[in-house]
Amino acid sequence: MSSQPLNLVERAAERLRQTRSLDTSAAHLLDIEKTGGVAVPDQPDPIAPVFDAPMRSTPAIDTAVLERAGMIDWSKGRSRVSEEFRIIQSHIMRTAFAPESTGQGLANLVMVTSARPGEGKSFASLNLALSIARQRDHAVLLVDTDSKDESFGRSLGLVDTPGLLDLALDPRLNADDLITPTGFEKLSILPIGTKPEASAELFATRQMTRLIKDLARRYADRVVILDAAPCLSSSDPSTLAPIVGQIVLVVEAERTQRAELESALDLIQSCPTISLLLNKVQVTTSHTFGAYASSYTSS
Ligand SMILES: Nc1ncnc2c1ncn2[C@@H]1O[C@H](COP(=O)(O)OP(=O)(O)O)[C@@H](O)[C@H]1O
Ligand SMILES: [Mg+2]
Repeated sequence: MSSQPLNLVERAAERLRQTRSLDTSAAHLLDIEKTGGVAVPDQPDPIAPVFDAPMRSTPAIDTAVLERAGMIDWSKGRSRVSEEFRIIQSHIMRTAFAPESTGQGLANLVMVTSARPGEGKSFASLNLALSIARQRDHAVLLVDTDSKDESFGRSLGLVDTPGLLDLALDPRLNADDLITPTGFEKLSILPIGTKPEASAELFATRQMTRLIKDLARRYADRVVILDAAPCLSSSDPSTLAPIVGQIVLVVEAERTQRAELESALDLIQSCPTISLLLNKVQVTTSHTFGAYASSYTSS
């Protein structure tokens, strides 16, 4: 791995620490190597109903579909990537159920964002959610809030499926009815919904902020992960930053520019706990697993 991307996030982490008071300066720095890559199919296969749906009658999203959507191979035992997600997960969980450390935001509400599209937000959201769900201690609700990135919903077979936007627009709808179970008992997914054209206006409204807060309160025993839009092409992340307990900011190695990263940080700085996730790192044999995560952990 070249030192350039690491320097970039190290500087950003340092800047975060300097601009925050000590008790809220949890600037974690984590990295994820590039896996073999995931091909998103144009037409997903039909989804097989494999598990009982605890909350809704539609079929669960099965494991093969999750794999095509970017799930890393957990069956291989302890791979480097799965270990890194476990480390990220433990950072998140430490804060998620320790409300005193999260300031104004809802502790169990975690937003995953980045500066630009394509840097790995959906990949990180899904695998972070799976990493938590596989532990079985806590359930996870993964909420798709990025209406411009249809690839995630498409890969899960959730296009034109009612979800978040519908809930925001129609108070008669019940979240329980729109949440889709998966082949993992503890993981369920709320799709973006069927009215993406309305999303820009909706996210700017109190209605949407209130809805997301309500979801986090209603499912207070779960970690609610928001797969959010990119900071520099949408105002959603800065709107949501004050209400979330934690943010994971994905930085793509060799691609995210320093100025972009700093602008993104400025937009979300109202959240007290920000983790920087260096994604798609090209691993070299000299790389020491976990070194960055542990050296930048302040809590
Ligand atoms: N660490 C990684 N290893 C392999 N592929 C990745 C990794 N991170 C992201 N990708 C792939 O890169 C593409 C873009 O990632 P995605 O999560 O969809 O970006 P975003 O949601 O930020 O727009 C997807 O095909 C995804 O599967
Ligand atoms: Mg995405």
